[in-house]
Amino acid sequence: MGILLKNISTLLTLQGAAQKMGRFVKEEDLGIQLQSSILIEKDRIAWMGPHKKLPKEFAKKKSLQEINMKGKTVLPGFVECHTHLIFAGDRAAEFEMRNQGVSYQEIAARGGGILSTMKKTRGASLVDLTKWGQERANHFISQGVTTLEIKSGYALNLKDELKMLQAAQKVSGLRTVSTFLGAHALPPEFKSYESYLEFLAQDILPIVKKKKLARRVDVFIEKGFFPPEASEKYLRRAQELGFEVLVHADQLSLSGGSDVAVRIGALSGDHLLQVSEKEIKNLAKSETTCVLLPAADLYMKTKYPPAREMIEAGARVALATDYNPGSSPTQDLNLVGLLARLEMKMTLPEVIAAYTVGAAHALNLHHEIGSLKAGKSADILCIEKDWQTLFYSVGERVEKMVFSRGKKIFGSLK
Ligand code: NIG
Ligand code: FE
Repeated sequence: MGILLKNISTLLTLQGAAQKMGRFVKEEDLGIQLQSSILIEKDRIAWMGPHKKLPKEFAKKKSLQEINMKGKTVLPGFVECHTHLIFAGDRAAEFEMRNQGVSYQEIAARGGGILSTMKKTRGASLVDLTKWGQERANHFISQGVTTLEIKSGYALNLKDELKMLQAAQKVSGLRTVSTFLGAHALPPEFKSYESYLEFLAQDILPIVKKKKLARRVDVFIEKGFFPPEASEKYLRRAQELGFEVLVHADQLSLSGGSDVAVRIGALSGDHLLQVSEKEIKNLAKSETTCVLLPAADLYMKTKYPPAREMIEAGARVALATDYNPGSSPTQDLNLVGLLARLEMKMTLPEVIAAYTVGAAHALNLHHEIGSLKAGKSADILCIEKDWQTLFYSVGERVEKMVFSRGKKIFGSLK
């Protein structure tokens, strides 16, 4: 049994972008092919090429489900590589305060912000957190997302951080990647960032590892949050335990986050809007992916990251929503891509590559996803429209069909 997507009018393989490891992406790196077909067997792409060249043994297969893709565009499923998907409550009242001029840090210092979501999340059941997580994941799937990163970090104690990670693990349909973000804010039970990080490293990380609840560890390095020196020490301990690491870096101030990320070989530095030339050079030389989160910048009314400088210096860029109830209460990929184009001057091919190849690198899954090639995972997005209409019209609903690991998880096309 297999699935044949046949006569695809326009196929974007992203193979060129994948070969360039997501750097210096140009339109020709989208790998645009006309009149192609893709054969899916089990969870893999078994064959891909011009429809006319489809090997006879495949064409004759009786058990093959054929789907005519005339007039359609096919590309790799989107990779959403930075979300805080699991949380309880909202922060709408705080949004109004911020909008009236109270700063994010001021609200946090008054016990609002991350700590207000912490109280609600500690009080929520695993069943509810899973239900909400699944509903939100389904909304990502409906936009063509086939891989979703999910962070903990709204419980900040052992029992409820594990509960958050368990909820994340129960989210199904698409591929998920869990990240332990215990180092998101200082919980009221601790007096210093250093002692809290010590507790996380000693008492939580080994359990998360043993229970296989996350393979990545993230820290929010920022003035008024986690300091760079202690964070670096913590991340190195996480690496020693076998975790991959990443950093919420240089979001509200240039506070050393991206320096730490590069120094320790983090998979990604995320946010990065405050970086200057020196940090950009170092990021570009490194294997650390720059994960840019412009929806958060919109909501926070900050500047946007210097994406053009990063790209021209040779950095690998990814885009994501940063979906969370505080700084980025939106799951809208279209908005993210549109802001990247309008405010960060990224070209459309750069945006598409950032949401596929770049994001796959950020999750260290680029051998498996992010581009389409025989042997890779069949994580595929099929749309009714031309690729040039992507990341263009906010609020538009495009008919689509989404495959994750060879299984249709959303939609159908006429
Ligand atoms: O990525 N910057 C730190 N963490 C989140 C915000 C979380 C929150 O405000 O609840 C972010 O923007
Ligand atoms: Fe975040």
